[in-house]
Amino acid sequence: MQAHETDAYILGTEDDEITRLRTQHVSWTRQQLDILERAGIRDGQHVIDLGCGPGFTSFEIAEVVGSTGRVLARDTSERFLAFLEAESARRGITCIETSLGPVEGLALAPGSLDGAYSRWLLSWLEDAAPLVHHVSTGLRPGGCFALQEYIDWGAMSAVPRIPAFDRAIEACMAYWHASGQTINVAADLPRLAKSAGLTVEHMEPVARLGAIGSLEWRWVDEFLHIWLPKLVAAGAFARADYDAWREAWDAMETEGIHRIFTPIVCDVVLRKV
Ligand SMILES: C[S@@+](CC[C@H](N)C(=O)[O-])C[C@H]1O[C@@H](n2cnc3c(N)ncnc32)[C@H](O)[C@@H]1O
Repeated sequence: MQAHETDAYILGTEDDEITRLRTQHVSWTRQQLDILERAGIRDGQHVIDLGCGPGFTSFEIAEVVGSTGRVLARDTSERFLAFLEAESARRGITCIETSLGPVEGLALAPGSLDGAYSRWLLSWLEDAAPLVHHVSTGLRPGGCFALQEYIDWGAMSAVPRIPAFDRAIEACMAYWHASGQTINVAADLPRLAKSAGLTVEHMEPVARLGAIGSLEWRWVDEFLHIWLPKLVAAGAFARADYDAWREAWDAMETEGIHRIFTPIVCDVVLRKV
C-alpha cells in the first residue's frame, strides 16, 4: 500500500459503515456478477476496482479473474484497505493489490488494463470526467469499464407511499443538490464516455422492490438509519420530520404491509474500441 490518505468519504469509514457496505454488497452481489459476465471479465485478466471500499466487490472480481489474474483495488480510505487486506488473507486470495489514494490521481499505463469496475463511486466525485479519461487511457483496445451507479436515487419510496418517508427522501436529494453532488451520475455517462473515446455498449436500469425481511429492505433500513441522523446534525432535515419518519418506519415494520422501492441503479458497460 502506498503512503497516502485522504479520508473524506461522506458516509464515514467506521465499523458501522463497513457493516452497511457488507449488507449492501450481499444485496447486490448477483447484479455485480451479472455485469462482470456481460462485460466479458474473465480468467487471467487485469482489472481495477475503483473506490473499492472494504473490498467486497474486489473479492468477487478476484474470484472471476482467478489466481492468474490481477485486481488493483483503489480507495482513499486506509481503514477500508486494511480491512480488505486482512479479509483477503483470511479468504486465501492472493491476486488483489491495494492502492491508497484518490482515483483522480491514478496514473495508469496506457493499454495496461483489460477492465475497470466501479460501483457507487462516481456519485461521490466532484467531477467524474477526469476519471473516465484516465480509465479510457488505461484500457487496452477492446477493454471495458463496467459501472453500477444511480440513475434515479429519488425514486426510493414506501409502497404504498407515506408522506413522512417522501419528506426524508426529498431532504436527502435537496442536501446532495445543495452540496453540488451528482447523485444520479449514471445519466451523465453517455456524455462522459463520448468525450473519453469510449462507446456505450449497455445501459440498463435496475429497479427493485422488497418487503420487510428482504435484502432490499435491509439495505434501505441500514442506509437511512445511518444517514438521516447525519442530515439532522447538519441542519438539513428537521428533527420533527426525522421523528415522523422514525415513527412511520417503525409502523411499517410492525404492520408488515409496505414494500420498499429502492433507488434505481443503472448497469453501464463502456468499451474502448
Ligand atoms: C459507497 S462506497 C462503495 C464501495 C464499493 N465500491 C462497494 O460497492 O461496496 C464509496 C467508496 O468510494 C470511496 N471513494 C470516495 N471518493 C473517492 C475518491 N475520490 N477516490 C477513491 N475512492 C473514493 C470511499 O472511500 C468508499 O469506499
